[in-house]
Amino acid sequence: MGKTQKVKSKSQKTSTGGPKSKPLWAGRLAEIPEENAFAFQSSINVDKRLVFDDINGSKTHVTMLGKQGIIPKDSASKIAKELDAIANDLKTGKLDIESEHEDIHSFLEAALTERLGNTGKMVHAGRSRNDQVALDFRLYLKSAVPQLQSSLMSLINILLDTAQLHVTSIMPGYTHLQRAQPITLGYHLTAWCAALDRDNLRFSDALKRLDECPLGSGALAGSTLPLDRKTTAFALGFRDPALNAMDAVADRDFVLELSSACAITMVHLSRFCEDVVLWASEEFKYIDLADAWSTGSSIMPQKKNPDFAELIRGKSARTTGNLVTLFTLLKGLPYAYNKDLQEDKEALFDSIDTLNNCLSIFGGMIKSAQFNIKRMKTACSGGFLEATDIAEYLVRKGMPFRAAHETTALIVRDCVKAGHKHICALDISELKKYSKFFDEDIYKLITPSACVKARSLQGGPAPKEVRRQIKILRKKNKYE
Ligand code: ARG
Repeated sequence: MGKTQKVKSKSQKTSTGGPKSKPLWAGRLAEIPEENAFAFQSSINVDKRLVFDDINGSKTHVTMLGKQGIIPKDSASKIAKELDAIANDLKTGKLDIESEHEDIHSFLEAALTERLGNTGKMVHAGRSRNDQVALDFRLYLKSAVPQLQSSLMSLINILLDTAQLHVTSIMPGYTHLQRAQPITLGYHLTAWCAALDRDNLRFSDALKRLDECPLGSGALAGSTLPLDRKTTAFALGFRDPALNAMDAVADRDFVLELSSACAITMVHLSRFCEDVVLWASEEFKYIDLADAWSTGSSIMPQKKNPDFAELIRGKSARTTGNLVTLFTLLKGLPYAYNKDLQEDKEALFDSIDTLNNCLSIFGGMIKSAQFNIKRMKTACSGGFLEATDIAEYLVRKGMPFRAAHETTALIVRDCVKAGHKHICALDISELKKYSKFFDEDIYKLITPSACVKARSLQGGPAPKEVRRQIKILRKKNKYE
């Protein structure tokens, strides 16, 4: 067939043109919408990415129709074969998806009818575009989401590789953006990975609930034809046919869940990027982004800007926005299908695309970055980051924690008064004035690396413990 579809039947009038091929629903109406109105309600430019899922679903549906004797078997196999030919022609570029069609379902039915005449018109028996689009969207996500997860796992592995290199690289840990306690860079990066690992689980979890086949639900109330819902559901790789046909066509929980999983992951990336932007500043200077992963300024010749990190942070606004769009879209919808639902795909596709891009960009940026280990370590001295360790030292010697806290706070205040003297510069007789519990052993317990090493509880920053955390995360995020 040629690249254009046949024009509408003569009985339909439009004032200014209208669609190239007759809409599937044209029989009922004396007039069909004029061109711009038709374009307004069409979704083909968005749902064309469902084309191969639609072909897959249609083939399975039509084969079942043949088996059940709803249409002649040889018609069913002709349609299935032609759907393969259409898929092939699309892949080789012999056939284009034309945006004059209302949606991808209309395009494919028109293409079939164009090629097979009346036989092509049999494909839609026992089906509505309502269950068709619910099916296509789910089929698409059943393969797109695992791909997204594999990008996510690939990023987790990049971060774990970097973390592994830095399990003993001391840096300050922050609360309120104030230096708090010594940790390691490896620990910090592993914390990021723990968040991304939960994101990965969120996607897997959403996929479980998505795994029900809407095919056979029709417009909202199934069909009077003897469809075999189990056969089509299993052939398409679903766990089960959807329980309730009305729910199956009205439900977009899976869109909300996946959009939420994307938005949460993007919020994580955005927070990591905020760390990176701070670390790349002259004030911190913890990270040196590769030149190839930085940008310059059109006016200030000296500038090297962390644009990639900033833009990931910025793009998280889109994914949050898409989630809000979807909630808003659904909240007032009466059951079952309403055309409003057509807006669901653009939002989720955008979230998936945005996340996919950001995962790979973030990975590339971190992989090529250099960490300024010396600078991070230096930032651990002089800020009294060992204060909690001193209080806990006193607790171990028998002092109640609140008293130990006050004693240590007093030492800190006096040191600040004395011009930011380091606590370790006080000799033991001076320390003993604050508490008789102080002994010579205190000095070796309050170096930044001793502080880190002593935090060996499960979940802590001690190198041995971080190695264990890395191992667990690696095992959970194996991918080919
Ligand atoms: N393009 C439509 C969508 O994405 C397909 C379903 C149309 N159904 C209908 N009854 N108009 O929702």
